[in-house]
Amino acid sequence: MCNIETEQKKKVLSCIQPSGMLTLGNYLGALKNWVNMQDEFDCTFAVADLHAITVRQEPAALRSQIYSTYALLLALGIDPEKNTVFIQSHVPFHTQLSWLLSCNTQFGEMSRMTQFKDKSAKHPENVNVGLFSYPVLMAADILLYKPDFVPVGADQKQHLEIARDIAVRFNNKYGDVFTIPEPYIPKTGARVMSLQDPSRKMSKSDDNVNSWVAILDSKDDIIRKFKRAVTDSEACVRFCEEQAGISNLITIYSAVTGKTVAEVEREFEGRGYGEFKLAVGEAVADTLAPIKASYEEIIKDKKALEQLYKEGADKACRQAYKTYNKAMKKVGFVL
Ligand code: TYM
Repeated sequence: MCNIETEQKKKVLSCIQPSGMLTLGNYLGALKNWVNMQDEFDCTFAVADLHAITVRQEPAALRSQIYSTYALLLALGIDPEKNTVFIQSHVPFHTQLSWLLSCNTQFGEMSRMTQFKDKSAKHPENVNVGLFSYPVLMAADILLYKPDFVPVGADQKQHLEIARDIAVRFNNKYGDVFTIPEPYIPKTGARVMSLQDPSRKMSKSDDNVNSWVAILDSKDDIIRKFKRAVTDSEACVRFCEEQAGISNLITIYSAVTGKTVAEVEREFEGRGYGEFKLAVGEAVADTLAPIKASYEEIIKDKKALEQLYKEGADKACRQAYKTYNKAMKKVGFVL
């Protein structure tokens, strides 16, 4: 009976890079939805470690970040028994399918990717081919598992669109192989901005540590970062485009408390920025505290983690192999 239920569920796939500390942006834009979707959908989640080396990584740090990202997914409440939770590099079909897709993707399409333009401007000394073709690997990550939905933050929308384009083109040329996935982007928190420069997205690669909140930050650090957050000149808690700093804080507060923007504005009517920033800091710290506590337990047991990610890779391989084989056959390879 359980199997029948699983077969009928719609499928979800998403991945996260293990590049440094995961942020409140990752949580509100994507991970929160991963947790919420796991009962209703048949979910596959991965630590996208292969993507991380498009920028330079120190090997020991990368290894430890892969472990900690996997542990954090469990700490968030993602159940590896119910879902498939694995490490991307453990499933070779991702890079293999990526080659098939690369040969069906145009140079011009990749050149338009805004993240490539941003990242190559940020790392002019290392504009490598992997950074350029990264969205094709991401398309392979997705298409192997035939998901109906891909929960991501707004910054990944363009990559999702190219994955859809690649899939449609491949299906038209070779026959029906891939499911065309839909992005699943939250209404609140799809784009959490930097606390120091609200014109930029909150990012773990930002050198200014006060601009981002890590999921594993201490309560004191979280409150201090929100106290220092840039606000605007109007001095009232009101959401509007011109007031990007306070609007970002309202979005964050709304996402963690579940209150609407109007409710937040009403709650803080006539009260100053100082009081509001403290309330946001406390609400965020209270939301993240149980995740941090659970993470600290889970990361202690590397053996248990190892067993889980190996089982996850086995499950993922079984799903990915079928799609990969079908794609190879359709293209004309001898199997
Ligand atoms: P990554 O690792 O940069 O981010 C993981 C997820 O967090 C979301 N996110 C945000 N959401 C809101 N506000 C922010 N400031 C913010 N920062 C990050 C991202 O949108 C993402 O959903 N290429 C992907 C990883 C990836 C992937 C995939 C995703 C690889 N293969 C297949 C989906 C499907 C990335 O670099 O995300």
